[in-house]
Amino acid sequence: MTDSDVPAHWGRAYTAPDITVYFDLHRCIHFAACIRGLPQVFDPKVHPWVQADAAPAGAVAEVVRRCPTGALHYTLTAGPEEAPAAHTTVAAVQDGPLFVQGDLSLTTASGTINETRAALCRCGGTQNPPYCDGSHRQIGFQAEGIKPQDQE
Ligand code: SF4
Ligand code: FES
Repeated sequence: MTDSDVPAHWGRAYTAPDITVYFDLHRCIHFAACIRGLPQVFDPKVHPWVQADAAPAGAVAEVVRRCPTGALHYTLTAGPEEAPAAHTTVAAVQDGPLFVQGDLSLTTASGTINETRAALCRCGGTQNPPYCDGSHRQIGFQAEGIKPQDQE
């Protein structure tokens, strides 16, 4: 995939020689799998918060694939692209969204997009449907589910 093929919804690009990391703030609900996985790359205390060249590109890509919401994506200069999970999985987060992984086709306000990972709203309060935007916390949504760290 070349830079011009990257979907607009992937968000801001952080470029290093071997990898470009993309981040969509509106889909990040701060489960912090990225920060725990590679704190030298994903560090909200520095600017920019993604230092894409601070670890080997393969390691950065592996941590990006752990982002359960799809807020993070990547392209590797030498490939390959991220492949969707072989089986589609859905997991309900306690008091929060549905984590979905697989070969996804999502209908959004700006059209149908292909995805590999997404956090979908199940509280009804999101301002960014079909994605969770963290509003479940403000409205006090309560429902059974897994702890987020159990999924990451
Ligand atoms: S893993 Fe994804 S959702 Fe979690 S803090 Fe990082 S970018 Fe945000
Ligand atoms: S579940 Fe997070 S905004 Fe609805």
